[in-house]
Formats: sequence, C-alpha cells, structure tokens
Amino acid sequence: MAAACQQSRFNPNSPKVTLTRKRMEVPFLDLSAHHCPIQRQLMEAIQEVVESSAFSGGPFVERFENAFAQYCQTDHAIGVGSGTESLWLALKAQGIGPGDEVITVPNTFFATAEAISLTGAKPVFVDVSGETLNIDVSLIEAAITEHSKAIIPVHLFGQPADIDPIIEIGKCHGLFVLEDAAQAAGAEYRGRRSGSLGDCASFSFYPGKNLGALGEAGALTTNDADLARRLRVLRDHGQAKKHQHLDIGWNARMDGIQAAVLRVKLQRLDEANEKRRAHAALYSELLRECPLVKTPSESACNRHIFHIYAVRVPNRDQTIETLAQEGIRCSIHYPIPIHRQPAYQHLGYVEGSFPCAERSSSQLLSLPMYPELTQDQINHVAETLKATVENQAKWDD
Ligand SMILES: Cc1ncc(COP(=O)(O)O)c(C=O)c1O
Repeated sequence: MAAACQQSRFNPNSPKVTLTRKRMEVPFLDLSAHHCPIQRQLMEAIQEVVESSAFSGGPFVERFENAFAQYCQTDHAIGVGSGTESLWLALKAQGIGPGDEVITVPNTFFATAEAISLTGAKPVFVDVSGETLNIDVSLIEAAITEHSKAIIPVHLFGQPADIDPIIEIGKCHGLFVLEDAAQAAGAEYRGRRSGSLGDCASFSFYPGKNLGALGEAGALTTNDADLARRLRVLRDHGQAKKHQHLDIGWNARMDGIQAAVLRVKLQRLDEANEKRRAHAALYSELLRECPLVKTPSESACNRHIFHIYAVRVPNRDQTIETLAQEGIRCSIHYPIPIHRQPAYQHLGYVEGSFPCAERSSSQLLSLPMYPELTQDQINHVAETLKATVENQAKWDD
C-alpha cells in the first residue's frame, strides 16, 4: 500500500493521496451482522408461515399491518409488494392520472417520480433546501398550477420534510400530501411519527432500508378509513370481495413471509434507530474540526434516524475511490438528479433548473451506516476521510 501511494506522487494522473494508516474493511452496509443476532426469531417466523401456508396476504400480513399502524401512530397500515407500488397505489387511489401534475423533488430515488409517471401524471420538480436537502417549502407555491393534484415530500435519508407548512399549502390548494417515508421508518417531526404526518405515507422495506424485509415489501399508512379501503381494493386486483372487481387494480399484495419477518424486525427498530443516531453523532463529532467535510444537519423539530449519513466533500469522486482503496465502502445518493436522467429529458428541465439538488448530487458522499457499526470502524472512516480530503487540498494548492 505504502509503495503504491509513493508511486502516486510521481504520476500526475493518479489520486495524489498518501495514507499510511492501518487498513480496516468497513462495508457500506452489513446485513449479515444485522440479522445474525435475530436469526433464530426470523427462522421461527418463517417456519410459522410455511406451516400455515399463508404466503400471500392473510393473517401474517394483517398482524404486521396492525403493529405497523400502531408504530406509526396511524389508524391504518396496508402492506404491499414494494415502496414503488405503495407510491403508485396511493396516487391511483386518489384518481390521479393523465393531465394531472404531482409536485416532488429531483434528489430522490427514481421511484418517487416513476410512480407519478406510471399513473399517467406529470412529475413537477421543486428544489430543496441546502441545509436539510428536503423540499424547499418556499418554492412550492410557484410550482402549483390548475393541474396540480398532489405533493410528495420525501423524508430524505431519514429526516422528515418540514411538513406543517406543506400541509397548509395542500389544504389551501386542495392538494393530497403523500409522504415518501421510504427512508424514514421511526423518524419524528415535532414529536409525531413519519407515516402520520401527511394524508397518506409510503414506506419501502427493501432489504437495505432501516426497516428491511428479507426480500421486497412496502406499506402505506393513513388515518383516512375510506382511503385505506380503496388501497386494500386496489392492491388486490380491484377486488372488494373474491371475484368482484370494482376497479382496475394490480397484484400488489404483501408476502406472508415478509410480513412475519418485518414484525420481528419492527420490535427492534427503535433500538436500531437509536444506534444509527449515536453513530451519526460520533461521525459528526469526529469530523467537526475538518472544514472540508460538511456534516449533515438535523433540524430542531426533527428526530432524524440516519438511514443514510451523507457528508459533502470537495472532489467527491476521487474521495470515494481513495476510501475504497482503503477498504471503506461508501455510496452516493444520488449521483444524477432525476430531472437530468435520460428518462425525463422530455420534461424540458436543464442543468441549473434546481441548483441545490444539482450541487448536492456532485458533493454528497454516503458513509458506512448500519446499527452494528463499531466505534473503531467509525473512527477509522472519519480519520481516513479527514486525511484524504486534507491531502487532496494540499495537492490542489
Ligand atoms: C425515497 C424512496 N422512494 C421510493 C423507493 C422505492 O421503494 P422500493 O425499492 O421498495 O420499491 C425508495 C427505495 O429505494 C426510496 O428510497
């Protein structure tokens, strides 16, 4: 390693970094470490489903729905096949379709916009706040037209969007507010749980999420009994009763095995989120005196659960490569804002349309984050990151 680094000093094309510290492997995410201590409970839960053959919908899904609704402080939870399906079904249940517009942000996972497009409606993007990277509330009203039907604030990285003023805007203009809470199970805004903040909320239980299934799954939460009923119909081919199809729906039912597994994992979610918060606090403390690394901020009214801990650094792409050479696996959420994706060129947005989202896409670096991360690993990541950016700065002078 040292020899390779020495060589890089003389090669103008290679990263100009010399690091001599001890190598330590730090994965971005370690699902084995997460599942190992609860493997017996997970296997028992799976076995129970296998023995009862309730594989699609059924009692295990109902039990999870009840537990999740209670956790989210809502009257209803509806289990579905993925977070993408839950976003799409929520919009469909509101009758949103061709000719309609739905407001959201460009710095989210592609599925947020994709679900809007799948209904036939048009995504309309609004830039985000430079501090929280969540929707900039002051820009929403300018994006509203006579075709607007809904707003989807995304609780990016596990931090709730500033929802109260969004609800006010929604009420004022008759817009449905759908939380994209895919990354924020257990997060809080002014003491209220994500999932209970808007008219409806969408969750993803993709395995890498802070509440992850052992496969694909998602859920919707709401306090609106009529909306919950429509969602249950739509997720089952539009059937209210067997063989009576009231609407064109989809097969979006949740698997019994995923529901049983999620019920086991839900019992440990608060503890896992607490660990994430402690890890984030330690990262931020260790990086505090490095002005080249901007750590994430938590707004005073929020309880961020740090599904993702993303810092901003200069020379992001070079930094991620150097850290990978040191055994530290990072990720990027998201390198291309949605309005710059080839699939959305027809919307006519250009570079510069959303300066905050665009700037963040070139600077953000997601550091390893999962509950089982050790203090040694966090120290190592922070020290290596500091050394990397400081070295780059020396060579850039
Ligand atoms: C913000 C956001 N919305 C929606 C989704 C889609 O969820 P799923 O992968 O379960 O379909 C994700 C998952 O990555 C997400 O992060």
